[in-house]
Amino acid sequence: MSTIFNRLAAATPAYKDPMTEIDWSADDPDLSWLPESVISLAHLPVWQQLDARQKRRVSQIEFARLCAAGLWLEGLMIHRVTHAGFVAADTLETQIVLHEVREETGHGLMFLKMIERAGMSGKHLLGPTGLLTTVAKMLDPQSAGFWAMVFIGESVTDTFALKALKEAEGQGRAICPLARQVMQWHHADEARHIAAAKALLGEKIKAMSPAQRSGFRLLTKMLIRRFLRATLFPSLQSLEALQIPNAREVWRQAHRNPSGWVLARSCAEPAMNLIDKQFSKSAAGTAVAP
Ligand SMILES: [Fe+2]
Ligand SMILES: [Fe+2]
Repeated sequence: MSTIFNRLAAATPAYKDPMTEIDWSADDPDLSWLPESVISLAHLPVWQQLDARQKRRVSQIEFARLCAAGLWLEGLMIHRVTHAGFVAADTLETQIVLHEVREETGHGLMFLKMIERAGMSGKHLLGPTGLLTTVAKMLDPQSAGFWAMVFIGESVTDTFALKALKEAEGQGRAICPLARQVMQWHHADEARHIAAAKALLGEKIKAMSPAQRSGFRLLTKMLIRRFLRATLFPSLQSLEALQIPNAREVWRQAHRNPSGWVLARSCAEPAMNLIDKQFSKSAAGTAVAP
């Protein structure tokens, strides 16, 4: 185990604070915060009825939802890894954990600022998170299950952000430079966090029996759809903030929209592949039903 910790410690760069490093003046009022291809409402009839200002507003609200998802997951991670204090701490392992906590706290502050800029402070941007929070709070940070959940949370949101960045670059569709900076900053840190979660999961899974592994895999399959719905689809309150007619109907359409589920499933694919590989004998993937 110490070899893994040595490797992870060596890969941790000097800390940089996004609050001071990001150019917060780089907001371009004419540009969307996300490319159209990843905006859930862009695949619905209501999109054609919106003017350019409203479309930009939708992109800000959907971006703010990503930030809210990050804040929620980071808060849970920090809560779990610090809940027992650091009694008789192993220096190297605790050092790695605290580095990650510091980076996640920086992300949280950065996300809060973007939520505020989007005018969504205090709004419910996520779908129901209660059951997922309860399950996450039961997981021991020393267990493979905990690091699998960290991997899922980080990998789904990071895959989404990476798709947004690639789409914006590849198709020459400019997005707001501030939004791009925030996604790039987060991706650079998360790539390391995801690798660390994967390495820790690989080590800790050795302590799980085959029955425990398949039980955990089943639980994950049951919860993933709920997780995707909570983080990658609009909340009713966020649509009401748009002041569009029939917000509830648009919300229903967004949650049933096949294009939205194709995108959501593709964001979950790396995580589900890892779960299948690590928690079952078969490496065959199981699709997340729409
Ligand atoms: Fe983060
Ligand atoms: Fe992270």
